[in-house]
Amino acid sequence: MIELNLKNVSQDIIGKEHGLNLEFEFNRYAPQISKIITDLNTSKDKPGQWLQWMNLGYQEETVWYVKEFAAMVEGRFDNILVLGIGGSALGGIAITEALLKPYWNLLSPSDRSNLPRIFFLDNIDPDQINAMFNMLDLKRTLVNVITKSGSTAETMSQFMIIKDKLQQALGDDYRKNIVATTDKSTGILRQIANEEGYKTFVVPDDVGGRFSVFSAVGLVPFVLVGIDIDDLMHGVKDMDLALKNTDIHKNIAAQNALIHYLMDTEKNKNLSVMMPYSSRLKYVSDWYVQLWAESLGKEEDKNGKKVNVGPTPIKALGATDQHSQIQLYNEGPNDKVINFIRVNEFDINLQIPNIFEYTGIGYLGGKTVNELINAEADSTAVALCDYERPNLTITIPKIDAYNIAQLFYMLEVQTAIAGELYNIDTFNQPGVEQAKNYTYALMGRAGYEESAETLKQKISV
Ligand code: PA5
Repeated sequence: MIELNLKNVSQDIIGKEHGLNLEFEFNRYAPQISKIITDLNTSKDKPGQWLQWMNLGYQEETVWYVKEFAAMVEGRFDNILVLGIGGSALGGIAITEALLKPYWNLLSPSDRSNLPRIFFLDNIDPDQINAMFNMLDLKRTLVNVITKSGSTAETMSQFMIIKDKLQQALGDDYRKNIVATTDKSTGILRQIANEEGYKTFVVPDDVGGRFSVFSAVGLVPFVLVGIDIDDLMHGVKDMDLALKNTDIHKNIAAQNALIHYLMDTEKNKNLSVMMPYSSRLKYVSDWYVQLWAESLGKEEDKNGKKVNVGPTPIKALGATDQHSQIQLYNEGPNDKVINFIRVNEFDINLQIPNIFEYTGIGYLGGKTVNELINAEADSTAVALCDYERPNLTITIPKIDAYNIAQLFYMLEVQTAIAGELYNIDTFNQPGVEQAKNYTYALMGRAGYEESAETLKQKISV
């Protein structure tokens, strides 16, 4: 199991002004935490609670269908191209980056076990989209378009371009190169898929985008590039069982949620830095930033009271950002909680040869890069403590499907518990609607004409 070391947020280590009396706080919040965990687990099957992500570790049928699809298309494609944005892309990017061999797309087919390359397009930069579509041999590319709503402008504009190109390149056979993942019955993509006869997968009801990585949203691309989705499911299930424990002393998601909540509300630390010490985990930070920001940044609480809450998540990468951000974290405002992710065992041990005797670098010879990266993670944590900066370390035994699934699921549960502590709706995102509506107006979508006029005036001012 992955572990959480939280001693560096305690006042014994970083002092009373910035640290917490953990035993006291855990006991103080034990009844509330116990109720939150019980409520999450008992209400997860109620429609409209948006808690179906808590059941994704147990969806045997979907796993079976996804595997069957992978077997059907085996050998037919050199490239998987995923179109999606936000929750429809970030989990896929983070998990493929973590679990595939580094530089996967640059490896020879045999080094990839003849599995396809994988690309995610999660932006609408015209130059990037054009370059991507021109680079890929479309006949050998499977396009996986993912959108729960079925009408997200970024994803659907990409899809409209590629569908047209596929049709030109393949004639009537183009449909075989498209797989759509969307709502089971509603939305424009569902309608198009039904009319055109694409292979489809379902984003389950009551699973929001940022909690959907273990649904078909993630499983389809994962299985196509050979990620062991049984191991992923196993990791989710084991973590789910562990986090059903209503005792905060034994529940790491509850502990981290409470620590972040108290650091924000009682110690003025409303920035949460995610800093894995592993390049393969770099995009875990991007995924975490979206999960934390969209879930916890809210104007109103559940009673409709204006609260404007939410810790701001920040992404960082160890050891790289020691040379970029750590100066600020040590000496700047003491307003952050820093989450380290530390990997115990890397796939290989990379030895540094003993080739120089200079005092400044000679000590490195004979050691491993593995020792160096973890020494840097440990040293950065200790230095932060010297400056009385709260920090936590999540330790992963090794980067594999089982452990990565545990990490992601733990962070999801942590987010849900934090949302309850803030007493906000974790699963909505009303704050993204305004700009979306303005875009519709600017792009001439029917029904938005009136606001288009007002908007044009505002832009010209
Ligand atoms: O977490 C979310 O709900 C959002 O980030 C969505 O995933 C994102 O807006 C994309 O939406 P859709 O899947 O409907 O295209």
